[in-house]
Amino acid sequence: MNQILHIECSPRGDASVSSQVTRYAVESLLGENPDARVLRRDLGNAPPPHLSAEFVDAMLIAPHARNAAQHDALALSEKLIAELELADVVVMGTPMHNYGAPSGLKAWFDHVMRLGRTFTMTAQGKIGLLRDRPVMVAVSSGGLFTWGGAARQPDYLTGYIRAVFGTIGIRNVEFVTVEGIRNGPEQQAIMLASARRWIDANIVALKRRQPRGI
Ligand SMILES: Cc1cc2nc3c(=O)[nH]c(=O)nc-3n(C[C@H](O)[C@H](O)[C@H](O)COP(=O)(O)O)c2cc1C
Repeated sequence: MNQILHIECSPRGDASVSSQVTRYAVESLLGENPDARVLRRDLGNAPPPHLSAEFVDAMLIAPHARNAAQHDALALSEKLIAELELADVVVMGTPMHNYGAPSGLKAWFDHVMRLGRTFTMTAQGKIGLLRDRPVMVAVSSGGLFTWGGAARQPDYLTGYIRAVFGTIGIRNVEFVTVEGIRNGPEQQAIMLASARRWIDANIVALKRRQPRGI
């Protein structure tokens, strides 16, 4: 059974622009393969907790040497990593918050990017331990950030997402952006239509690039 991991990072539910894009992408994937299973993670409304001292201590202990409490401290991390490992394709939607990732998404990455579990450290640097797979990330923002001279703000979001996925072995990451939402409904409609066109044109290619096929 093919598996889609659908991650939404906005707290705005149905009103979320980034979620409108990811829902369209998931529908498109299901149109191609109605038997695919979708696992949904709502990081905007049910974010993982910030990392605890117990988590940090347990993370640094070899798995065979962990006691029950230390295994418990890592249980959610193991669950989130397993969801990612199971996924043939990841569809993620996120707003830009204060030039970067919303806190729920940052917390998710803190749980899945784990030394000794999803990446290892070598003299040559960090090496990812997860199988590569395609990831589509829809980013929504009030202002512009990719539009060359028109962009009026830094972007600490897309580079961060690419870097952390890359560190754990997932390099096949594509971004589609819906920018300038605060310019009003007309701009939002134009950008959403453009994102849908991007998905229509690229979703098949996205699927083909991943090893097990969806
Ligand atoms: C707390 C907060 C911080 C934001 N920071 C930025 C920002 O740095 N740059 C930007 O362009 N828009 C920013 N916005 C606007 C959102 O990115 C924009 O409304 C986006 O469309 C929200 O996506 P969503 O509809 O999926 O929630 C911010 C919004 C909020 C609520």
